[in-house]
Amino acid sequence: MKKKERSATLVSEYVAQIQCPMCGAGMKVLSLTSLVCSNNHTFDFAKQGYVNMLSRPVATQYDQALFENRRDFILNSGFYAKMHEAVVDIIHRQLAPGPMTILDAGSGEGSHMEQILKKAGAGHIGIGLDIAKGGILLAAKNYPDSIWLVGDLANLPMKAGSCDVILNILSPANYNEFNRVIKPSGIVIKVVPRSGYLSELRQALYQDTDKADYDNAGTIALFEEHFEVLERVCLTEQVMLDQSALANLIRMSPLAWHHEDGDLDNFISKSRPVTIDLEILVGRQTN
Ligand SMILES: C[S@@+](CC[C@H](N)C(=O)[O-])C[C@H]1O[C@@H](n2cnc3c(N)ncnc32)[C@H](O)[C@@H]1O
Ligand SMILES: [Zn+2]
Repeated sequence: MKKKERSATLVSEYVAQIQCPMCGAGMKVLSLTSLVCSNNHTFDFAKQGYVNMLSRPVATQYDQALFENRRDFILNSGFYAKMHEAVVDIIHRQLAPGPMTILDAGSGEGSHMEQILKKAGAGHIGIGLDIAKGGILLAAKNYPDSIWLVGDLANLPMKAGSCDVILNILSPANYNEFNRVIKPSGIVIKVVPRSGYLSELRQALYQDTDKADYDNAGTIALFEEHFEVLERVCLTEQVMLDQSALANLIRMSPLAWHHEDGDLDNFISKSRPVTIDLEILVGRQTN
């Protein structure tokens, strides 16, 4: 079966959980070609196996080359392995066993969600959504067993109460939407950087420590305003990265987008330890 038909078949199994991003009506899969709502808003499956559910194209700084670097880094550096394990442990601790709908809001090219799904055991469906088509295109190409949607996390094409888990990893959030689509028994898992995250890269870029600092107090306070916080898990360690991982890190990281050519030559000239310093916030609906 071609990618497009395979994806349409998968979406038709879960179509009851999807709603039209334009009018909120229920949807169905038509002729394994498009998703159509009862008011006839139509979104076609792309041949690579995803659906673009944006009503108009959105410009993004994240292009396909960046997502290829992110994928290579996530899969091959081991940098995020502990984060993936910690997220799976949280899911097992907080939710009853059984098949789950796991939405990754701001999934990029999908490797975080796929690593988490792989470790979480069989039977779950992953739905990855990102506003950047380059990321979703790559995700659909590499991970045909999940559903991939180009969409806006501020207007999720998901029904109210349709998701057991919302992942939101190093991405912007929309808590009103997350509250709408999460099940009353479900959890939101948000991964945010802490002050030491990539500190070696920050130092190499800015040298002075003021700019190098990163403060996430506002992000955490906003999360606490919207959810009952069940857990806060901090993950801090230094991971040894080789030259090819360091080169990927620079290319994939918004931090380093504005550096001059040559600035980071020294940074990537030999293997070095780099700090991962993340906080995982776990919340559920407040009422
Ligand atoms: C730093 S990247 C993280 C991507 C992925 N979670 C990862 O860690 O590799 C931030 C992502 O948020 C996405 N994003 C930004 N605004 C968005 C929106 N309104 N709706 C959906 N995705 C959005 C970007 O396109 C980008 O892929
Ligand atoms: Zn509609």
